[in-house]
Amino acid sequence: MSQARDPGQNPPADARENAVGASMGEAYERFVEAGQGHVFRFWSSLSAEERDALRAQLESVDPARFVGILDRTRALAERELPDLEPAVVERHPARGGSQAGFDAAREAGEAELRAGRVAALVVAGGQGTRLGHPGPKGTFPIGPVGPRSLFELQASRIRGLERRHGRTVPWLVMTSPSTDAATRRFFEEHDHFGLGKGDVLFFSQGEIPCVDFEGRFLLAEPGRLATSPDGHGGVIGALARSGCLDALADRGITTLSYYQVDNPLLRIGDPVLIGFHVSANAEFTTKIVAKNDPAERVGSIARSEGRHLVIEYTEIREPHRSARDEDGELVHWAGGISAHVLDTGFLARAAANEAEWLPEHASAKKIPHVDDAGDPVVPDEPNGYKLERFVFDVLPHASRVSIVEALREEEYSPVKNALGGESPDTARAALSAHARRLLREAGIEEPPPGDWIELDPEWIDGAEDLRALGIRRYEDAPRSILLASGGTA
Ligand code: UD1
Repeated sequence: MSQARDPGQNPPADARENAVGASMGEAYERFVEAGQGHVFRFWSSLSAEERDALRAQLESVDPARFVGILDRTRALAERELPDLEPAVVERHPARGGSQAGFDAAREAGEAELRAGRVAALVVAGGQGTRLGHPGPKGTFPIGPVGPRSLFELQASRIRGLERRHGRTVPWLVMTSPSTDAATRRFFEEHDHFGLGKGDVLFFSQGEIPCVDFEGRFLLAEPGRLATSPDGHGGVIGALARSGCLDALADRGITTLSYYQVDNPLLRIGDPVLIGFHVSANAEFTTKIVAKNDPAERVGSIARSEGRHLVIEYTEIREPHRSARDEDGELVHWAGGISAHVLDTGFLARAAANEAEWLPEHASAKKIPHVDDAGDPVVPDEPNGYKLERFVFDVLPHASRVSIVEALREEEYSPVKNALGGESPDTARAALSAHARRLLREAGIEEPPPGDWIELDPEWIDGAEDLRALGIRRYEDAPRSILLASGGTA
C-alpha cells in the first residue's frame, strides 16, 4: 500500500492553487475550467519527477472535450433511429447474389492488387482480457495443427497476396501502449514472418482518460490519470499522427484492407471486397455475414436517413434488434465482422474531422484508482467508464459505400473468449472444417473424419489453388496441407 497522502495536510486552498497554477502553467486553468481541477489534489505531495510526468500526461489531454461527455455517450447509446431500414447488400452468390457480379469484382480487385495500390491494416491494440491470454492477442497460437499464431497466419495470407499479384502489400500493425513493445518483439523474434522488415509498419493508438460516473477523471496514482486505449476508432488519428498516411501516399497506396486481429478465418486483402470497393468508387466498404440471432455480439449494419451506419450490439434497441419480416427473417440481418476496405483520402478527411465524426462510447468498468488519501482501490463493482471510439462511426460520412456479404463458414470465426463460443476451440474447428471443404471441392480425397486439417494460406486460398498447384492427394503437399489426428473436424 502506498503511503497515505492526505490532501488535508496540504497548505490552505488559495495558496495551494496558486502554487499548482504557477508550476503547472496554462494546463492548470484548462483543467479547472473544465471541472477537472481535482486531478491536482496531490500536487504538493508529488516529487519533481512525478510532477513532470503528470504535467506531460495532462499536456496530451483536452479536458474541454470531456465537458458533458456522459450526456453525449448516453444520447448515442439511447438514440431511437425511428426510420431505420435494412442495409443495401451485395448478396453472396450462394445466397441469391450474382456470380457474374462477384467474378467481375474479383477481377477488379486483382487489378488493384497488381497495381500495388493495396496495404493491409490490422487493429491489434486490444488487451485480449476476455481471452485470458497474457500477451498481445495476435501472439495467440491458433493453428489447428501447427502452433501458428494469429499474426503468423495473417502474415502467410499477406505473403500469398504478394506472390499472386507480384506486388508488395505493406502491413500496418496498430498496437496500443500496452501491446506495442511485446508486439514488435514478437515480430523481431519471428523475423517478420518472412515479410520485408521495412514493409511492416507499426504504429500505436492513443489512450483516453477513464471517468467516474459523474464524468470526473480518475487517478490511477496520485500523479497519474487512469487511462485506457481509445478504441479502434483511434486508428484514424493515429494513422495521421504517426506519419503512416504519408508513408502510404509515398508508396502510391490508396486502398487499405482493414481487419481485426481476432478472426483467423478472414480473407485479408480479399480481391472481391476490394473489387466492389473500387468499382463503386467507394470510400468505405465493409463485409457482413448474416447474424445467427438477434443477440449475436456483432454490430448491425443498417440505414438511417439514407446513410449506412453500424449500430453496436450493445446499443441496438428494440424493436430493431429483434424485428422480423413476413418470412420470419431478421430485418437487420447484416452483421458486421469489422473487415473493411478504406480509401486513404477518406481517412485523411476523417482524421481532420476526428472530434466530430468519432464520438466516444462509454462502457461501465471496474477501474482501479486512488482514493482521497492516495491509497489504491481495486473496485469489486463498476465504478466508472472506459471511453472508446469505434472506427465504423465514420461510415455515414463516406460519400459512397459498398456492403458485401460473405459466408460465415468461410470467413468468420473470431477468438474472443477463453472457452465456449467464439473461443480458440471453435476457431480451430472452423479453420479445419473450411480446409476440409476446400479439399472436397477440389476433388481431393479427404483425410479420415477425426483429423484436424490446416492449410497454409500463403499457397491455398481456395479450391482453385489446390487445382492450380496440381495437388491430387493431400499426402503430396505435406508443407501446405498439415494434418493431425485426434481433432473433431
Ligand atoms: C467487435 C465490433 C463489432 C463486430 C465484432 C466482430 C467493436 C466496438 N465492435 O466487437 O461491431 O461485429 O467485433 O468480431 O469493435 N481493438 C483495438 N484497440 C482498442 C479496442 C479494440 O485495436 O482500443 C481491436 C482489438 O484488438 C480487436 C478488435 O479491435 O481486434 C475488436 O475489439 P473488441 O473490443 O474485442 O470488439 P468486440 O466486442 O469483439
